[in-house]
Amino acid sequence: MSGFDEVYRRSIEQPEQFWGEAARGIDWDVAPATVYGEGRWFPDGRLNTCHNALDRHVERGRGDQPALIHDSPVTGVTRVHTYAELLDEVARTAGMLRGLGVTAGDTVVIYMPMVPEAVVAMLACARLGAVHSVVFGGFAARELAVRIDHARPKVVLSASCGIEPARVVAYKPLLDDALEQAEHRPGRCVILQRPQCEAELREGRDLDWAQAVRGAEPAPCVSVAATDPLYVLYTSGTTGSPKGVVRDNGGHAVALHWSMSHVYGAAPGEVYWAASDVGWVVGHSYIVYAPLLAGCTTVLYEGKPVGTPDPGAFWRVVATHGVRTLFTAPTAIRAIKKEDPSGNFAKKWDLSGLRYLFLAGERLDPDTYHWARDLLGIPVIDHWWQTETGWPIAANCVGIEPLPVKPGSPTRPVPGWDVHVLDGDGNDCPPGVEGAVTVKLPLPPGALPTLYRDEARFHRSYLERHPGHYLTGDGGHLDADGYLYVMGRIDDVINVAGHRLSTGAMEEVIASHPDVAECAVIGAADELKGQLPMGFVVLKAGAERDPEEIERELAALVRERIGPVAAFRRSVVVSRLPKTRSGKILRATMRNIADGHPYDVPSTIEDPAALPEIAQALKGT
Ligand code: COA
Ligand code: AMP
Repeated sequence: MSGFDEVYRRSIEQPEQFWGEAARGIDWDVAPATVYGEGRWFPDGRLNTCHNALDRHVERGRGDQPALIHDSPVTGVTRVHTYAELLDEVARTAGMLRGLGVTAGDTVVIYMPMVPEAVVAMLACARLGAVHSVVFGGFAARELAVRIDHARPKVVLSASCGIEPARVVAYKPLLDDALEQAEHRPGRCVILQRPQCEAELREGRDLDWAQAVRGAEPAPCVSVAATDPLYVLYTSGTTGSPKGVVRDNGGHAVALHWSMSHVYGAAPGEVYWAASDVGWVVGHSYIVYAPLLAGCTTVLYEGKPVGTPDPGAFWRVVATHGVRTLFTAPTAIRAIKKEDPSGNFAKKWDLSGLRYLFLAGERLDPDTYHWARDLLGIPVIDHWWQTETGWPIAANCVGIEPLPVKPGSPTRPVPGWDVHVLDGDGNDCPPGVEGAVTVKLPLPPGALPTLYRDEARFHRSYLERHPGHYLTGDGGHLDADGYLYVMGRIDDVINVAGHRLSTGAMEEVIASHPDVAECAVIGAADELKGQLPMGFVVLKAGAERDPEEIERELAALVRERIGPVAAFRRSVVVSRLPKTRSGKILRATMRNIADGHPYDVPSTIEDPAALPEIAQALKGT
């Protein structure tokens, strides 16, 4: 039995012993006497996540080590915070929040671009035991409003603007608009003024961030129960209302700390860079919490893989800051490859310090894998996980024992994750046979314990379909060696440039167009972004409209209601949608047509001629 097999076996057969040992990597105010009980990890432990991310490292001599490097090609600024400096700023920001009445258990919405204050804000909430909910900047005001109404924050933390390569995105008008649309009224909004675009502050509600923090006393860490929530992160479900994934404090700290050494092979003091955004789970886990819990230096990159200014941007950051581990999405590598196919920009930089490239967020196609592997000459590691799980379910755990790579597979389930591929009746599929990818309960520490204020939806979405198993929403298969192949979502969630989006949410917006009778949105394969949303619309009788004009109007509507991140541009007008006789739209069949996969014509189809029309419409795009 190999080293990996042994560790994996122990994690599944003796989970309490396994995670009890891992818990020793964390400082506890009250060490947990029980590792797992009543469905929760470390139910009687107490700790503070911010203490584990900052204070303990300063106390143990890492005060002068860089904790956070903000590298921002879009503003031309690089700023470094040592652990001592970051602790000081976080403690004062926590003091500011405390002064505004924020206490343990309160929620705080953070709507911010990739600036150090976003990280500071998250850690300041953690310091107080307050629950942060970060909203990605690429969402529109309405999406922000929906999250504000659900999270009911006492305070909103935001900034005057974010910076995209081609434009300055004024965040404050979006926030104002969201607060007009929302029913919930936060007590205060604290706005970070950026020089690229000053925001107008509303008397009585808005505060200037710098001023508010200047007058604040540093706040100490508040001890919380391991099972208390650290954050809520909304993610796309199959309907228009997002799911509030809850993360607890104890399980999260233990699992993320363990993952840094065992999955990523990263040691304290090393520079670790996740090129993502703090608005996504990758940003929460591997820009902010895990690298700091592990005493690494983390990089916060405000730029793109290409165009800021060129496809050598990532390699510059790696070489300049001595990055040992890089984590990004395959789409970013495809963007670089497209602009610099021979890798000339990479050759300009000394990349000898880079040891691993980890990729996640979408399926890593073998072409992209081989290109990156040949270019960098280091292990390129596909790993699979999701917002709900918080850390990798399947990966090549280089910190335990690197296994042979099979391109197209994120290797094997990580210790703690008892992955099963099930058929429709809940039986394990034989090797090579595709089914629903599930995880046998209990989920390991760090995975979601529930959905925020919606336990019923948590059960309905994840636990009901296959009792005793967590449904991931992905389809795939295991091979005879236990390698997992994740082939894509089996629900109405799509993945656009590593961003998770709901086609159901887009359909709700499109259906609100006055000329649309009915519609379906699917994810169509795209060379760069993996998938792009594509709409099929049936117009109301009598709506004599130019299809191109309709397409433009629908694109504008989705951009306005969901946000630019949806990248919704293409839609076609069809005479009817393929449906079963009971009226269910055949989205899965449409997806197969879009991806060029073989498809059966279901016997229950209402009108078989609807399918060729879809295929024809796709050919024309
Ligand atoms: N605030 C405001 N707008 C934002 C935004 C933000 N934080 N992030 C993205 N947007 C906007 C973009 O400006 C763009 O708008 P446009 O339609 O006016 O051009 C739109 O949302 C789509 O953005 P993006 O997905 O970044 O696409 P792109 O075409 O600008 O760039 C890639 C393509 C591949 C370079 C880019 O998607 C990328 O870097 N992807 C990596 C994804 C990633 O890290 N995912 C996290 C999981 S690991
Ligand atoms: P998110 O919750 O935004 O992280 O998106 C999670 C979804 O992205 C998963 O359910 C998968 O569909 C997809 N995904 C993430 N990583 C991978 C991967 N390595 N291979 C295949 N799909 C992935």
